[in-house]
Amino acid sequence: MICPQCVGVEKFFDEKYAKRELKRYQRKGPVKTTRLLIEAIRTEGVKDLSLLDIGGGIGAIPFELFEAGVSRATDVEAATAYLKIARAEAERRGFADRVDYRSGDFVEEASDIDPADIVTLDRVICCYPDMQKLVSLSAAKARKIYGLVYPRLNLVMRLARPLINLQCRIKRSPFRFYLHSPAEVDRVLRDFGFTRRCESRTPLWQIVVFVRVE
Ligand SMILES: C[S@@+](CC[C@H](N)C(=O)[O-])C[C@H]1O[C@@H](n2cnc3c(N)ncnc32)[C@H](O)[C@@H]1O
Repeated sequence: MICPQCVGVEKFFDEKYAKRELKRYQRKGPVKTTRLLIEAIRTEGVKDLSLLDIGGGIGAIPFELFEAGVSRATDVEAATAYLKIARAEAERRGFADRVDYRSGDFVEEASDIDPADIVTLDRVICCYPDMQKLVSLSAAKARKIYGLVYPRLNLVMRLARPLINLQCRIKRSPFRFYLHSPAEVDRVLRDFGFTRRCESRTPLWQIVVFVRVE
């Protein structure tokens, strides 16, 4: 992992950060946006389907979807601290043999990753500069369902982005937060044969599930 954003991700999502998130998840379950994404995917019917979770963090999506009937999962994660925590939690929950944990930038690793029935990117495209590449390479892996959580393009997020990035500059971190156009995300997914099935919002985030049109 040598690109500036990869170094930034590694520093930003460190062990302390990952442990804090795991503790919160163990106490309260998935955060609201992740819960909304999981609920929307579950309504599509997930029994015996496979999952590819990109930038999976502590692994809440596979853990919750296993309970709903998903058979196997692959998690491609750029931050090694997250990967370590997610792997240990999978073992603790008895899921270790059902998740394939892959370390690295999905865009770089894509040619080695198998397709899956469901692909999820929960608050990931805002951590990646090239939305077009990330979304198109991941959409190409999704056989049925594509679930996304990404920042809304509203005033709060437009103001938050430069502030977050200024804070990173002050801390000399190469990590940057990106706002990508939802219309552009839609266009890429439409080009891959997906149509929007459902959408929900929180004040800061948009949760969208796409399905592949037969
Ligand atoms: C804000 S965190 C979200 C983690 C988790 N999905 C959640 O919602 O709690 C963004 C995650 O995406 C990962 N990430 C960003 N770009 C990635 C890429 N190109 N390949 C793999 N992981 C990536 C980061 O390492 C980080 O773990």
